[in-house]
Amino acid sequence: MKIAGIPAIVTGAVYGLGAATARRLAADGAIVAMLDLDGDAAEATAKDIGCIGFVCNVGSADSAEAAIAAARKRHGPAGIVINCAGIGCGSAVGGRDGRPADLAWFERVVRVNLTGTFNVICLAAANMMARAPNEDGERGVIVNTGSTSGYEGQIGQAAYAASKGGVIAMGIALVREFARSGIRVMTISPGPLDTRMFNGMFEGADNRLLDAAHFPRRAGKPEEYAKIVADIVGNPMLNGESIRRDGALRMGRVDQTGFWPVTKRSMKCALRSITSASATLRNAA
Ligand SMILES: NC(=O)c1ccc[n+]([C@@H]2O[C@H](COP(=O)([O-])OP(=O)(O)OC[C@H]3O[C@@H](n4cnc5c(N)ncnc54)[C@H](O)[C@@H]3O)[C@@H](O)[C@H]2O)c1
Repeated sequence: MKIAGIPAIVTGAVYGLGAATARRLAADGAIVAMLDLDGDAAEATAKDIGCIGFVCNVGSADSAEAAIAAARKRHGPAGIVINCAGIGCGSAVGGRDGRPADLAWFERVVRVNLTGTFNVICLAAANMMARAPNEDGERGVIVNTGSTSGYEGQIGQAAYAASKGGVIAMGIALVREFARSGIRVMTISPGPLDTRMFNGMFEGADNRLLDAAHFPRRAGKPEEYAKIVADIVGNPMLNGESIRRDGALRMGRVDQTGFWPVTKRSMKCALRSITSASATLRNAA
């Protein structure tokens, strides 16, 4: 589906992946509505790039319905819907001090990441079905954001992993239903990205996560995510798939102390220990 001239909705559009995606789609000619929990920032950012912004809590049926209806009123039914709104929040499940995790923690993460994604899909798909199909029979495309954690959740990330696994799993079920309406559903499942979420959430663990990738061993850039979105929209054969965008990150046991993957840093550390041990032995002799 071409991007130029198509009404688009991006959730979580103020920061990180959503912001980069809104910019990219707008630059490619889409008519973008930016939805975010922070409505003032959404409006201000949208103005900067010639879009419109609305407050929207994706986890609330009423809030999302109002925002999507407002976007439809201004732009018509969206043919491109990108779900980037999400939160990350870790917790021990059994509790380090013997107290079990708070159920509200689990429900909050699932509410935003999984229920919120589903909520936006329901509302947006109903509108999308009302669009006239293009020459390929296509009415629209929905892109959801999973995560590497949806395949291999790290320690402390049971809620996040469950929410992202749910996003990945529902993709094919939606494809089966939406196929007859000419609507595609894709998921992008990123590894670490240089955004507020990653930089805040994994302080201390981030280098270990990055080291667990094969190549490249760095955080992804939000613009690289946005480029995949543009590629997905433009390629009608991409459907029902979750694309990992993580430099072949395989987490192994990276977040358990006592095991570290062999990296330049761990080699340096090991060499330092050997050198210092040799010096001690030399001095003793
Ligand atoms: N950053 C990473 O390393 C990484 C890796 C894998 C997956 N992801 C996923 O990518 C998506 C975007 O993450 P990011 O790194 O850009 O995070 P971010 O914190 O930079 O941005 C998230 C955006 O979502 C908005 N938001 C939060 N809760 C919302 C709600 N209830 N309703 C509407 N908007 C809400 C925030 O205001 C913000 O603009 C998330 O789904 C996240 O789980 C991120």
